[in-house]
Amino acid sequence: MSHHPAERKQITVPQIVAMKAAGKKITALTAYDYSMARLIDAAGIEIILVGDSMSMVVQGHATTLPVTLDEMIYHAEMVGRAVEHALVVVDMPFPSFLLGSHKAIENAGRILKETRCQAVKLEGGADQADVIDALVSAGIPVMAHVGLRPQSVHRLGGYRVQRDREQLLADARAAEVAGAFSVVLECVPADIARDITRQLAVPTIGIGAGVDCDGQVLVMHDLLGLNTGHVPKHVKQYAQLAPAVTDAVTRFRDEVRAGQFPGKEQTFE
Ligand code: KIV
Repeated sequence: MSHHPAERKQITVPQIVAMKAAGKKITALTAYDYSMARLIDAAGIEIILVGDSMSMVVQGHATTLPVTLDEMIYHAEMVGRAVEHALVVVDMPFPSFLLGSHKAIENAGRILKETRCQAVKLEGGADQADVIDALVSAGIPVMAHVGLRPQSVHRLGGYRVQRDREQLLADARAAEVAGAFSVVLECVPADIARDITRQLAVPTIGIGAGVDCDGQVLVMHDLLGLNTGHVPKHVKQYAQLAPAVTDAVTRFRDEVRAGQFPGKEQTFE
């Protein structure tokens, strides 16, 4: 088959899987729009996740439950247009994969058809093995997500570290057997995450799961220090953009009020 001239040299799913065997750490970050996706991509991050965390950090909801499939697709289109190198994975929002395999294929199919993204992520392990299997059989790469599953926050009674070793191992194994190409481990004790990582042939991508996972993912707003208020234990802020934004906006406000902006440099003669 000949290739489309506009085809981009993006990292492929098999290349992500091969990084584990090669002992190379995988980096992943979330993005929800064009400009941020371009910066992350240019920095050489291997996986960009259009996460349903968008529901909270972009849309301002209290949980990840409200974001819709149409909204995920709208933002995935922006990210898909920006990216040249990274593999782009799109979260399947609640409950787009919970209404039977047929509906899950229809919804994941829309994501792949309508965006330039290459894979989906869904929250689930053993309980979603049938759906993962159906999607993979349809040619849709799936990243599974076990441990803390934010879409189940109401059942769990809060965002808590998940410590049921047997359940976590069973979920991760079932996801791999069903064909998932990688497994996100969220808020899992480091020793359990290490055991799961050793037992799987496909990579684990940790968030709050210790240093021994095959890769790490963070929500971009967390990494940049864009959120104000409580910083979860698993988050490292590599920048403090919230105060930087407040400072810039405040200086703009003061300079406009004082008649100092625009200055000569910003003025056309
Ligand atoms: O929605 C999201 O951003 C995620 C990551 C935290 C893994 O699922």
